Amino acid sequence: MPLRTPLTSIPADLVCASDYQRYARAHLDTNALAYLDGGAADELTCHANLQAWQEWSLLPRVLRDLRGGHTRCQIMGDMLEHPVVLAPVAYQHLFHEEGERAVALAAGVMGGAAVLSSFASTRLEDVIECATGPLWFQLYWQGDGETTLALAERAAAAGYRALVLTVDAPVSGVRNREQREGFKLPPGVSAVNIVDPARPVELVAGASPVFDGLLAQAPRWDEVAWLCRHSRLPVLLKGILHPADAELAMRSGAAGVVVSNHGGRVLDSQLTASRMLPAIRRVLGRDATLLVDGGICRGTDVLKAIALGADAVMVGRPYIYALAVAGSLGVAHLLRGLREELEMAMALCGCRTLADIDDQLLLSARDGTR
Ligand code: FNR
Ligand code: LAC
Repeated sequence: MPLRTPLTSIPADLVCASDYQRYARAHLDTNALAYLDGGAADELTCHANLQAWQEWSLLPRVLRDLRGGHTRCQIMGDMLEHPVVLAPVAYQHLFHEEGERAVALAAGVMGGAAVLSSFASTRLEDVIECATGPLWFQLYWQGDGETTLALAERAAAAGYRALVLTVDAPVSGVRNREQREGFKLPPGVSAVNIVDPARPVELVAGASPVFDGLLAQAPRWDEVAWLCRHSRLPVLLKGILHPADAELAMRSGAAGVVVSNHGGRVLDSQLTASRMLPAIRRVLGRDATLLVDGGICRGTDVLKAIALGADAVMVGRPYIYALAVAGSLGVAHLLRGLREELEMAMALCGCRTLADIDDQLLLSARDGTR
């Protein structure tokens, strides 16, 4: 069956993130779907990410004065209309011909921020031309400090507002779904911002392709501290789960962390991010920036994440489904829906602003404990 071309208006039965996922099946080939949907190995973490938010039940408060309520928040120096940031997702031309440009446009129109992946399939300068709101740049370490900093400086010069250094994927993990599908990038889709992508490592006999291959080029804490010192943009570390690593991130000069297991794509059986949020907030204190991602697809998920200590959330796959279905219109529509769901959840829980959301609203769905 030929793939459906992207829609130019939103059908009446397309009203939430899971509807976009259902619609996206008709718009994406099996190659792109294997890359997008897939997780590591048995995809236990992928599934757990979705479940994790359901493990909390909401205990609302009623009859409060909610006039003048809103979802605005200040994140990394910018005032945003809502706390839903679009996560870095590589190679967006796999999903729509406008790729990263459509996403930047939609994020800005909806008053939010988006993060461009190091593996974007559009030049970072061309993406920011379409932006009407703040964009951040996601960095993968480029083998050495100078090359990494040069890419970061290029993003800063173009107008990106923050760096997101991803630290949880020094190797890409066991991607069985991609392997079964024989996933490959189609002609014309590549990581166009990376100057020297192929740096093959010569392995001596008996050496491990994991430990002595890609990992030999991965950064360590002292290099992260070096980057934070030399970067003119603030740096968030993405892929932190352990409070001790959050502490090291702060000591290295990071502006904050993104608590994440990379959408379950790298290490299967990894803990879900929501579990570690309160402990990581304690380590960070009030002022450092704390974002979380993985499995967030409802306004109530956003509210729960904030109640557990996050300043804002990132969504990944949901907005890519929307991109595939209806380009920038789809992404903007999804964001508007998430924001409206969050507003509704806040109103029904008795919260006027994001600052009113706290852990008193949450009880464990299993046993009612806090
Ligand atoms: C990602 N993610 C990701 N993260 C990153 O730091 N750099 C990247 O280039 C990518 N690329 C990427 C591609 C695809 C297809 C997906 C689905 C994800 C991870 C992403 O930023 C985010 O952490 C997760 O997607 C969050 O989980 P959900 O919202 O997809 O459940
Ligand atoms: C991924 C890499 C690009 O998750 O971060 O596919």
